Amino acid sequence: MGYKRVVISAFGGPEVLKLIEETTLPEPKPGEVRVRVLVTSAAFTDVWIRKGTYPDVKAKPPGYDMVGVVDKLGKGVTRFEVGQRVADLTVIGAYSEYLCVPESRLTPVPEGLDPAEAVSLILSYVTAYQMLHRVAKVKQGQRILIHGAGGAVGTAMLQLGKLLDLEMYGTASKSKHDLVKRLGATPIDYKGDDFVERIRSLTSDGIDAAFDPIGGGHFERSLSVLRRGGKLVAYGSYNSTQGKGGSIPLDFLRLQLWNFLPNGRQTAFYLISAMRKRQAHWFSGDLATLFDLLAQNKIKPIIETRMPLAEARRAHELIEQAQVQGKIVLIVTEPPALK
Ligand SMILES: NC(=O)c1ccc[n+]([C@@H]2O[C@H](COP(=O)([O-])OP(=O)(O)OC[C@H]3O[C@@H](n4cnc5c(N)ncnc54)[C@H](OP(=O)(O)O)[C@@H]3O)[C@@H](O)[C@H]2O)c1
Repeated sequence: MGYKRVVISAFGGPEVLKLIEETTLPEPKPGEVRVRVLVTSAAFTDVWIRKGTYPDVKAKPPGYDMVGVVDKLGKGVTRFEVGQRVADLTVIGAYSEYLCVPESRLTPVPEGLDPAEAVSLILSYVTAYQMLHRVAKVKQGQRILIHGAGGAVGTAMLQLGKLLDLEMYGTASKSKHDLVKRLGATPIDYKGDDFVERIRSLTSDGIDAAFDPIGGGHFERSLSVLRRGGKLVAYGSYNSTQGKGGSIPLDFLRLQLWNFLPNGRQTAFYLISAMRKRQAHWFSGDLATLFDLLAQNKIKPIIETRMPLAEARRAHELIEQAQVQGKIVLIVTEPPALK
């Protein structure tokens, strides 16, 4: 039996994504589970991987997350049974109808959840959740600034921040301001206004935590709006991946050096895969918590569009044009097969 997957022949633009047909299914090794993938997603991080510029991941093809159904068990697998719903942060390779994954990496997905909503939690919401709770350790009622607030991570953070009654400010282009307002934050038009001036005029003494995926000189500006005791959580280099300057190693070094300044402000760089390597149980525990919040309707992922896996290229184009509000979900197995 054959199956389809998306491959790339070389790092590059969206045109390198190609749907191919494999002739035989992958066989799970001992300790692995073969998963029939229901949904994956297209995110800015996949664009970064496709271009070959993602730190630490110089492999292909993309596909950072998936929700699927256990299809076959390798020898010695004890935690899962055939037919069970599972999820993983695969980092690469999830743009595929079938995948083999070590059972230790899989998190069970509760029955009854929409697979498209469930997959939206794996990269974007775990990132938002861990930055809020594990890194910045925000407390009820604190004041935060979220850059890229209309994007996948930004909208996740707004929903999670609302559960903590945070006072939230979010930078976004004007077309995303209604969404940002609806999710409980004061929008700041980063194209028309200087966010540093806006934060100074909107708040008396600055903010408790800033979440910044933009990089370069932007980090320094985010640091400048922190209160004493505040924390800058950097988590990306949007500008450098868009060819707008900035250097990841230099950014990283500067963030470390700023921690020695006697200004009462702290910085950290968050990378979901690095945190998972250090604290694997945090990842599965936090994802399970998020599935629970979804089941209770306390969070609701903003899904811009659902499209078939065959349209992965168009999905990447939309992301690079910053046209996406929230998440793009790629449907791998057609809806009639969904439970
Ligand atoms: N470190 C990690 O573990 C981790 C995990 C997940 C994601 N990330 C990174 O986080 C970033 C966001 O990911 P995502 O999936 O949320 O991407 P996304 O859905 O594409 O959203 C990002 C949005 O940021 C906005 N933006 C661009 N330049 C901006 C600026 N100068 N100021 C404020 N907003 C700006 C754009 O929308 P508008 O310009 O239209 O407002 C863009 O759509 C990416 O760089 C991604 O690689 C890192």
